[in-house]
Amino acid sequence: MRGVPDRPLGLAPASIRDYRELARRRLPRQIFDYVDGGAYEESTLRANVADLNAIQLRQRVLRDVSKLELSTTVLGQELAMPLILGPIGMGGMLARRAEVQAARAAAEAGVVFCESTLSICSLEEVRAVTTAPFWFQLYVMRDRGVGEQLMERATAVGCPVLVLTVDLPVTGARYRETRNGLIGAQPVGKRLVQGLDFALHPSWAYSVGLRGRPHTFGNIASALPGAVTPRDFKAWIDSNFDPTVTWADLAWVREHWKGQLVLKGILDPEDARQAVDAGVDAIVVSNHGGRQLDDTSSSVTALPRVVDAVGNATEVLVDGGVRSGLDMVKMLALGARACLVGRAWAWSVAADGQHGVSHMLRIVRGELEVALSLTGAADVAALDRTVLLGEVAH
Ligand SMILES: Cc1cc2nc3c(=O)[nH]c(=O)nc-3n(C[C@H](O)[C@H](O)[C@H](O)COP(=O)(O)O)c2cc1C
Repeated sequence: MRGVPDRPLGLAPASIRDYRELARRRLPRQIFDYVDGGAYEESTLRANVADLNAIQLRQRVLRDVSKLELSTTVLGQELAMPLILGPIGMGGMLARRAEVQAARAAAEAGVVFCESTLSICSLEEVRAVTTAPFWFQLYVMRDRGVGEQLMERATAVGCPVLVLTVDLPVTGARYRETRNGLIGAQPVGKRLVQGLDFALHPSWAYSVGLRGRPHTFGNIASALPGAVTPRDFKAWIDSNFDPTVTWADLAWVREHWKGQLVLKGILDPEDARQAVDAGVDAIVVSNHGGRQLDDTSSSVTALPRVVDAVGNATEVLVDGGVRSGLDMVKMLALGARACLVGRAWAWSVAADGQHGVSHMLRIVRGELEVALSLTGAADVAALDRTVLLGEVAH
């Protein structure tokens, strides 16, 4: 039946939000908060979701919606639906070898997985489990040799697309991580509380903490000073990520990357136009899921402004706050070619590994089908602002 996917054994999540709740129960508090949280007062994080919710869809009736077209192309690549599993650093802290599990689920569903610079599983480990093309996301580090090696490795495993994340010249403070002791030095009492929290989540502690090799950082291991815990990791990022990066550095990327290039983290129309002038193949409208600049515009608010600024000059992708197929319809209607999801796959892999991600993707697909049917729009590629109610529509 359209819109109602099978459930994995023993779990009855019906939505992405249900997967969030399952992840909350399964993960130690500090790991759950690492995924769930945002920067500062988390106003951008909340706005990403609230602004999407506030947009209403226009219900239309008596249109033949027996045949729907969900597939599309992004950068010439066929996708079974316009969805990409976005880059998530330290994914392997959420489930054992999580990136491998997510890449498999993405390949099975006909969507793309994007590996992060900060993934636990390496590019090569992901390549070993799937023949499907996957993308690589790069952060620029002060030691340009690290980036050059990463681009070489991504090329060697056949990644067609490099996603250069440009909204993290410095890291936004995430209060939850500070409070939970995920970062920085902690007093003994705090460490005992954390130890207890791990003990109270034995299935995570055994499966991920003990057997999952969660500190391996497969892509940047050689750049790290030995074993690095999340606690030291923030300090490592702060001293190794390069805040001097400018538009001029795209020439350096182009020199070492012959595939397609996507800039992730564009929120301003002027930056979007500059990205077009720089000749990038696509941009991702994103505020890093509300994890960087707080009190800035939500992704869905920024999206139409960026789309209006760049027209058809480049492909526009978006992420931030997508929690359902209905949210996807709204983003696509506002001009996105596809949506990336971050927390949706992070929560579902934490809750139930590859099965969780596969099931989450079936849920979203079902929601997308129903939303298309009830708005009378049969083809994702043809969605436009006329499916929306209110001022953004007409
Ligand atoms: C736990 C976590 C880790 C992330 N790590 C990265 C990363 O390594 N690289 C990156 O470009 N974006 C990273 N992001 C941002 C996501 O790619 C994406 O922009 C964001 O999650 C989208 O918002 P959503 O979570 O509401 O879907 C991360 C997001 C989360 C939640």
